[in-house]
Amino acid sequence: MEEKKLRTVRSYVRRESRLTSAQQRALDEFMPQWGLTVPTTTFDFRSIYGNDNEVVLEIGFGPGTSLVEQAIAEPQTNFLGVEIHGPGVGSCLAGVAKNNLQNVRVMREDFMDVLPYIPDNSLQKIQIFFPDPWPKKRHHKRRLIQVEFVVDITYKLKSQGIIHLATDWENYAAHMVNVLNRIGNLQQFSTERFSRPKTKFEIRGEKLGHGVWDFLYRKTE
Ligand SMILES: C[S@@+](CC[C@H](N)C(=O)[O-])C[C@H]1O[C@@H](n2cnc3c(N)ncnc32)[C@H](O)[C@@H]1O
Repeated sequence: MEEKKLRTVRSYVRRESRLTSAQQRALDEFMPQWGLTVPTTTFDFRSIYGNDNEVVLEIGFGPGTSLVEQAIAEPQTNFLGVEIHGPGVGSCLAGVAKNNLQNVRVMREDFMDVLPYIPDNSLQKIQIFFPDPWPKKRHHKRRLIQVEFVVDITYKLKSQGIIHLATDWENYAAHMVNVLNRIGNLQQFSTERFSRPKTKFEIRGEKLGHGVWDFLYRKTE
């Protein structure tokens, strides 16, 4: 497959990856079993997970505590987590291995490099919780949630598949709604029945008095 770099603006902060020894050990020990690298052809989820269960993609899972919690609670669902930051991937892998979760795979990659290899109409859900808010106006272009990006990930959803976004920045929440409402084949639906584990950034934000905005949209066709 021809490699296609979809976006050159980075949505994440470049950080020195200071790994703790436990995170490094988890990467060394558990990447071979639970890690995936960017493939050369589109993913074959059936062979990756060994079953035909639905696949949920999480982009930017941070330390992965909520991803692990969700995967424990939903053993009949397959989870694919993509996170660029090494320490987060190490922490997540430690949690995945500790619970011996067979329904999780983890990638230490920029999601933009992974996107072309996800088959169209293959995912039941895409979740992006508390993406970097890039609060300064001149940095808004670095926000992950943009019309072109949401169009691209919507192709990857099955019909009736769900996009679940959350943020604790009111200004980003308004931007998210604006973007989501511009996608013709996405429709907002009620969040009342919905629960998800709290994430690390969410808990940190709550301590600072931040609000939380969740958005659930369904692919209509
Ligand atoms: C503010 S943190 C939130 C982490 C987690 N979802 C939580 O709520 O605790 C955003 C995360 O997204 C990751 N991220 C941002 N852009 C990414 C990209 N293009 N590919 C993979 N990860 C990305 C960052 O490294 C960071 O860990």
